[in-house]
Amino acid sequence: MDLQGRHILLGVTGGIAAYKSAELVRLLIKEGATVQVVLTEAASRFVGAATFQALSGRPVHGDLWDARVPDSMAHIALAREAELIVVAPATAHTLARAANGLADDLLSTLLLAAGKPVLYAPAMNREMWQHPATRRNVARLRADGAWISGPAAGEQACGEIGEGRMVEPEDLLQDIVAAFQPKVLAGVRTLVTAGPTFEAIDPVRGLTNRSSGKMGYAVARAAREAGAEVTLVSGPTALAAPFGVERIDVTSAQQMHDAVMARAAQAQLFVATAAVADWRPAQTFAHKQKKRDGEPAPAIALQPNPDILAGVAALPSAPFCVGFAAESEQLVAHAAAKRERKGVPLLVGNIGPDTFGSDDNALELFDADGHRPLGRGRKLMLARALVAEIARRLSGAAR
Ligand code: C5P
Repeated sequence: MDLQGRHILLGVTGGIAAYKSAELVRLLIKEGATVQVVLTEAASRFVGAATFQALSGRPVHGDLWDARVPDSMAHIALAREAELIVVAPATAHTLARAANGLADDLLSTLLLAAGKPVLYAPAMNREMWQHPATRRNVARLRADGAWISGPAAGEQACGEIGEGRMVEPEDLLQDIVAAFQPKVLAGVRTLVTAGPTFEAIDPVRGLTNRSSGKMGYAVARAAREAGAEVTLVSGPTALAAPFGVERIDVTSAQQMHDAVMARAAQAQLFVATAAVADWRPAQTFAHKQKKRDGEPAPAIALQPNPDILAGVAALPSAPFCVGFAAESEQLVAHAAAKRERKGVPLLVGNIGPDTFGSDDNALELFDADGHRPLGRGRKLMLARALVAEIARRLSGAAR
């Protein structure tokens, strides 16, 4: 659970997108967060407090003068426990009040009193979003340190089409998770390979492996959460691209090699998590090969694929290169030797008992000083720990 133990204050203001915030509460709770909902008067006309109360499991607040709160200081009590304030939907009026520091109801007072990071998810008619007053207010909020998520473009409740829809709850959830990650790779251009490759024998058959892509996708997501600009070159997987990550789909090792090489010179960091086929069929048949009674099984001649990681590491201005190694035996000896052979400063050994397809893994770091465990647990958690480790090395703080 990505938000385990996190305390989020969700301010819901008066827009039709308030119904999406009910779904957001459900997602936040599923991720382990505690959610305190504050409704404005206008919001409660769209979705009632009972809905948010049932989903969050907490009484909903909306009144600055709530007698349930000791000393009638709801704005102070609620502000203290929150780590992040999310305002979704944020109406044009809410943005205007917040940008000007007005404090005339519980939510606006909280925004001033909390001293906590705020993430706004604007939702309004496209003309209102484009209005110079709204542009000014959003710019001012950004300058004050707020995050703005969206708005998305598409069909609006008013029937018009344009920019102004609240982002979908799933996307907002990703922005909330990202908000909690330290921005240790801010602006770092990062290239990640992930998944298996598929080496065609004929139009229906091929050679591949059991890589699910989960570790590489977790690395791409963790890097993006840390502020990196991430391009993910992915072999065939069943996974959706992490939010905010550019994905380039490839099939074979040669395609993956070409896609990486076209971008490697601009990258500052390259993480090779893909399980690249070492060999491909020397010949790919144009048509499905037929089985004929009495004929022996055909032998498939193989030829080597290019080593993408070693190729990138050998570039004159190579990015910081990180490799992965999955071994079925003698991990330490093989991984240490592999790191030297590939010419990379950091190699990550998969030591999980069931690395492929699992959501869990155990990793060991190999560098010039030796090796040490990175940890054991969910791939996303390990990916975040790896990103922190890489960031330290990139900044030269720890070697
Ligand atoms: O040699 P081996 O395949 O075990 O090395 C694993 C590491 O090298 C991984 O980081 C993998 O992504 C990378 N690799 C590569 N191109 C290949 C083979 C492996 O980038 N052809």
